[in-house]
Amino acid sequence: MKRIAVLASGFGSNLAAIIQAVKRKKIKGAKVALVISDRQDAYVLKRAEKHNIPAVCIAASLDQSRTDYDKSVVKELKHHKIDMVVLAGFMRMISPYFVRAFRNKIINIHPALLPAFKGTDGIGAALCDGAKITGVTVHFVDEQMDHGPIILQSPVEVRDNDTRETLAKKIHVLEHQLLPQTIDLFVKGKLKISGRRVLIKN
Ligand code: GRF
Repeated sequence: MKRIAVLASGFGSNLAAIIQAVKRKKIKGAKVALVISDRQDAYVLKRAEKHNIPAVCIAASLDQSRTDYDKSVVKELKHHKIDMVVLAGFMRMISPYFVRAFRNKIINIHPALLPAFKGTDGIGAALCDGAKITGVTVHFVDEQMDHGPIILQSPVEVRDNDTRETLAKKIHVLEHQLLPQTIDLFVKGKLKISGRRVLIKN
């Protein structure tokens, strides 16, 4: 049984989708064994507690370096014997130290079709730039922001009457499908990284 940690800063709808996929056996051979947030008030922590999943807040202090913060996170992950890390709206850039500690075992969900609209507001940026198509990307995490090898992507059409809210809604629906699907592929050992590409075995 693989042990997944979910790192998130906010609402945790993606955590809910993962928990549900485990329950419905859409993800087999794995469970969410830990949730970490950098924000004490993040609803994702309450959500984890409701499901009896260990939930830990690791808040960053102002004078702390990224590496020092990540040392606390990695310590917690090792303590819980975590095999895979899922960044689901974790609003911190992770350090090379963290990437090395879990090389090719960290995935991130981004609300745009990478490499377009990187950064903290992928949905707003796509709207602002008048994109007609945007979407969702799940990728492995490397040392650069929103950059690691892409695993799965799915497009969303931006309609003339779309607002930030309506676009976000459509994107979230897709995220809740794509993230559990990616986790299942990872757990089954079906993802092979070949340079910048991820090959998906049958
Ligand atoms: C998602 O849109 C994800 O793509 C982004 O942050 C959001 C997290 O949503 N990185 P939630 O907390 O899972 O509801």
